[in-house]
Amino acid sequence: MKRVAVVLAAGKGTRMRSERPKVLHPLLGKPMLGYVLEALGAVRWDGVFVVVGHRREWVEAAFAGAASFVVQDPPLGTGDAVKIALKQAGAPPETLVVLNGDAPLLRAETIRRLVEAHEAASAAATVAAARLDDPTGYGRLVRDDDGRLVGIVEEKDATPAVRAIREVNAGLYAFFGPALAEALSALRPDNAQQEYYLTDAVGHLLARGAAVEVFPLSDPTEARGVNDRRELVEAEAILRRRIIERHLLAGVTVEDPASTWIGPDVEIAADAIIRAGSRLMGRTRVGEGADVGPYADLTDTEVGAGARVRYTVAEGAAIGAGSDVGPYAHLRPGTRLGRTVRVGNFVEVKNSTVGDGTKLPHLTYIGDATVGSGVNVGCGTITVNYDGVAKHRTVIEDGAFIGCNTNLIAPVRVGAGAYVAAGSTITDDVPDGALAIARARQANKPGYAERLRAKFRDRSGRSAGEAVSHHGGEGNEG
Ligand code: UD1
Ligand code: CA
Repeated sequence: MKRVAVVLAAGKGTRMRSERPKVLHPLLGKPMLGYVLEALGAVRWDGVFVVVGHRREWVEAAFAGAASFVVQDPPLGTGDAVKIALKQAGAPPETLVVLNGDAPLLRAETIRRLVEAHEAASAAATVAAARLDDPTGYGRLVRDDDGRLVGIVEEKDATPAVRAIREVNAGLYAFFGPALAEALSALRPDNAQQEYYLTDAVGHLLARGAAVEVFPLSDPTEARGVNDRRELVEAEAILRRRIIERHLLAGVTVEDPASTWIGPDVEIAADAIIRAGSRLMGRTRVGEGADVGPYADLTDTEVGAGARVRYTVAEGAAIGAGSDVGPYAHLRPGTRLGRTVRVGNFVEVKNSTVGDGTKLPHLTYIGDATVGSGVNVGCGTITVNYDGVAKHRTVIEDGAFIGCNTNLIAPVRVGAGAYVAAGSTITDDVPDGALAIARARQANKPGYAERLRAKFRDRSGRSAGEAVSHHGGEGNEG
């Protein structure tokens, strides 16, 4: 048996008031269409077609390889879109599932159960439906006195009596392909929007006496479509709660769900704790027993088991097990911290590897560097990685000790176990075990202040304190 899915995504999404096609608007960092395609994941398909039109290059680029694309231009309605998709799919498949591209809350399990019910009943069509407290904007399921479905009426074509119906069309259907193909050819755009409605094809099947089943969604929120940005944030809030609930049930403590954002593809091991105000996005992974937040903003970042990450922004970084990061650290792409690394206050790391047990406790920039294990990087150390033209690498070998306020002018290497004196500007490689001092030598000039005051007294009679505080020259010439 041939089974095909068609996702409708050619509409302009006018109500979003956006340059961006509606299905590319993200929820928790992932585009709407990504959720819909993923919801198809529990069924085996012989083809998945996405109908695109408005800004189709954007949609095709974002989902290249994830589906086949069918072009509908201009968008003449959902019925027209399916007709075009069917043409491309070849002979009508026995089972054709159609779903709106703007329904990101549908679950894979729901689609699987709908297909199962539809095929078991050998129905001509199966329509997913839900009872909503506020059905405004949706197509209503109209039933006769015996409760049998007679048709679907769009809000814009509905009488007040029909508008009062709370049972709505979720925009998810399974069809027997050949029956649908016939019904589609009978569609006419004789409605308020002058469109070819897919919902009218259901009406045609009913009028012909074909078997049409209603599949009630056990969770009505799955029916919610996103037409404007208000519905977008509402759908995002529902997804957010769902994702957090899933982690809570899997043994993750989420201290304050109301202020926590966790993306759909984030993985968190049991016994991790996510503290208030944290935002975990993309492919972020958190290991067992890690303590993340408060206020950790992590994207595509890996946090090792038992690590602690407070008040930190990290993107494309890996934090080894047992490491301690923050408060106020910034880990940029390509950061690879080993185990039990300490990254402290106001430290930025970029495109660098840092070995086990190394400490970067305060006020430091490490960029394009390879730092060994057991290294102590003093407060205020800076890798001077950019000469205005190109980036250069700094290498600090195992066990080195970098004194406070050091500049490491790359390319440069500090050898294993070497010491760099505080305040040094290191331009040449430091051999293993050596001490490098690269700074001006201090000179003390006894009696200087008294001589200066005397000079000003002679000249102008100004107050001595004022004269000294304005003094700027004659210092350390080392
Ligand atoms: C549609 C249904 C409505 C249902 C609701 C559920 C129709 C006629 N109405 O209404 O019964 O309750 O979904 O959310 O189907 N699209 C195309 N080509 C077109 C027109 C639309 O691909 O020519 C796509 C859109 O991009 C969108 C989807 O189809 O992803 C639904 O279209 P939309 O205009 O949002 O339909 P609704 O008015 O929400
Ligand atoms: Ca819609």
